[in-house]
Amino acid sequence: MQIQDFLQISKIIPVITIYDIKSSIQLARALIEGGIKVLEITLRTKYALEAISIINQEVPEAIVGAGTVLNISQLEQAKKYGAKFAISPGINSIFAKEAVQLGFPLMPGVASASEIMLALEFGFHNLKFFPAEAAGGINMLKSFIAPFETVRFCPTGGISMSNINEYLKLSNVLCVGGSWLAPKEYILNGQWEEITKLCKTSLNAILNI
Ligand code: 3PG
Repeated sequence: MQIQDFLQISKIIPVITIYDIKSSIQLARALIEGGIKVLEITLRTKYALEAISIINQEVPEAIVGAGTVLNISQLEQAKKYGAKFAISPGINSIFAKEAVQLGFPLMPGVASASEIMLALEFGFHNLKFFPAEAAGGINMLKSFIAPFETVRFCPTGGISMSNINEYLKLSNVLCVGGSWLAPKEYILNGQWEEITKLCKTSLNAILNI
């Protein structure tokens, strides 16, 4: 599968931080129960890679990708542990070149016209726009429509229920990402039903788009 195939499955991709292995399985189940299928497990804690592998085994309905991938060795690790795709917060030419050679589905991050041009140079047309709100938000994405007609974005960073629809309405936005579906407090307190509810509420809010 190509990266766009994963992005087309779900309009919302939860950006997940793993605090321990056991709760990662419960979290994945809570998200699936709430209708969210594609999960971005960020490589921000020492549990992340193992969580990718164990969620694949224990929650086969979940389509798990690795996030916060910063270099080629993390990309290789993500692939080895069973991630189906990867997302990076930014892009540089060394990483882009090696990622193309590895042939693993990757959505690199961009925050400017020059970075989009760099991504296109390596054949990446599906890009994370990060940090979305801080980098110019909806107006910035609107400005990218005309010059970059082949590019589709997944804005992430500062997205929540309050602005999700404004982003999804844009013709160059495929889906959005965010941590609001997996709040740290809920995970640490084991509030799985609350997480499921959050997913359902968020998906209901975008049904009409
Ligand atoms: C990411 O890596 O995509 C961001 O940390 C998510 O940003 P958010 O916490 O504002 O949703």
